[in-house]
Parts: sequence; structure tokens; C-alpha cells
Amino acid sequence: MSARPADWDPAHYLRFSDERSRPFHDLLARVPGDPHTVLDLGVGPGHLVAAIHARWPGAVVTGVDSSPAMVEQARAEHGAEATFVLADLATYVPDGVPDLVVSNAALQWVPGHLDVLARWRDVVGRGAGGTLAVQVPANQDAPSHTILNELAAADPYARWTQGTARVHVHRAEEYLEVLAGPGWTVDAWETTYLHVLQGSDAVFTWISATGARPVLAALPDDVRPGFEEEYKARLHAAYPERSYGTVLPFRRTFVVVTRD
Ligand SMILES: C[S@@+](CC[C@H](N)C(=O)[O-])C[C@H]1O[C@@H](n2cnc3c(N)ncnc32)[C@H](O)[C@@H]1O
Repeated sequence: MSARPADWDPAHYLRFSDERSRPFHDLLARVPGDPHTVLDLGVGPGHLVAAIHARWPGAVVTGVDSSPAMVEQARAEHGAEATFVLADLATYVPDGVPDLVVSNAALQWVPGHLDVLARWRDVVGRGAGGTLAVQVPANQDAPSHTILNELAAADPYARWTQGTARVHVHRAEEYLEVLAGPGWTVDAWETTYLHVLQGSDAVFTWISATGARPVLAALPDDVRPGFEEEYKARLHAAYPERSYGTVLPFRRTFVVVTRD
């Protein structure tokens, strides 16, 4: 029987680390200037702080995350590289105005995050040249999510999964509506990565570390295996295993805004 994923599991999340890290590198590549103070919202296990230092050696990095397991891992493995704060990015108030606020694959977990983004834009906008750089998944209509939601809403699972957290994102244009404006330089794009995943049940392994985690956590131990079996079977049909691996198309939205 699989373990019950009550909090994030950093080790599980770091499977496919290469694929999951790629958007962060692509996001940072479009950040202009030479930020000295960097705030990473939803920093996760902290492994990506190295990418910030690789781009801007000497940058002073603070990482915020609301998961005790993630912050513990980040402090243990990367405590010398950054300060890691256990806090909700929706309400966290930084000391001073960071030169760069970055958030990679985290905002989809925050209800009402358009308003949250507007607040962070205000924070960044207090300093000339300040940048807010965000990346969110744009795949909530992908089979990995639609199958999850269908199964979770069906008998016998619905009684346990009702009200469990689901990722939610907006169209790219809606992010622009909030983040773009006179006095800001905007760089926005969408990319579909074609991740070629290795191993059996690769898509399940991917999504059970992230989007499916709250649903799986809500199921009792004697019910979860049946759900997982059904979910895996339907994922196999939607994402057939090829001789070279399993292709997971993954669309993501990127927006980088810089105060003129
Ligand atoms: C998919 S992981 C991304 C981690 C890292 N940014 C990366 O790109 O690998 C999402 C992270 O967002 C964090 N998160 C979700 N909601 C949050 C909130 N309201 N405040 C702070 N962190 C949050 C989770 O705990 C998790 O570590």
C-alpha cells in the first residue's frame, strides 16, 4: 500500500527534477538586469536556488514556502545558499523591496492568486527596475487533471474527495490584465514541453507528487489502492508508453514584468 501523502514529499517531487526545473531556467533567462535581492515564492525543496546564483552570483535569496516538509528539506540541503521562510505567499510581507520576485509552478495552488499577484506587482513596483517573473502550468484541461477530477467526483470516492484542493489557473491573457500596464515592460509567452518520462506509471508518478496529492491524501488507506489502480489504467490509455518513454505534453504560461 502506498504512503499517505499528507504534506508534500520532497523526494517524490524531485523525481523528474530535470523536467520540472526546465521552466525555471527558461523563466530566469528572460529576467533583465542584475537583481541583488531575490524572493522566490513557493520555493519548494530549494534546489533551484542554485540556478539563481548561477545567473547572478552574489544575489541574496529568500525562499518562501508554506509546506513544512519542503522548508525542512530546503534548509537541510540548501541552507547555506538562501534563507528559507515557512509562510503563505499570499500574505507574506518581505523586509524591504526585492529587486526580483519569482514564482515557479506555485501560484496554481493559491486560491484567488490574481489578487495575490496584483499585490506582489505593487511590492515590486516600488523599486525602479524591479521585476516580477511567474510561471504557472496551463494544463488543467489535460487528461492528467480531467481524469483525476472525474474519478474523484464519482462513487465511491466523492464522499472523501469533496472539497480537496485542486490546482487552478487562468488564461494567459488574464495574467496580463493584472500584471501589464503603463510604466511596465512585459514579456509573456506560452510553451508546451513534451516531457519524455521513463519508468512504468510515469505520469502517475509525476502527478501523484503534485496535482493529485490532495485527492490521494484524502482517501482512506483501504480505498486509495482501488483509486490508484483505476487512475493509472486511464492514464495509461491517455498517455501510452512508447519504446522510448511516455510523452507528457505540458503547457505552461510565463509572464515577466519589469518596472521602467
Ligand atoms: C510544484 S512545487 C514548485 C516548487 C519550486 N518552485 C519548483 O519550481 O520546483 C509548488 C510549491 O508551492 C508551495 N506552495 C503552495 N501554496 C503555497 C502558498 N500559499 N504559500 C507558499 N508556498 C506555497 C508548495 O508547498 C510547493 O513547495
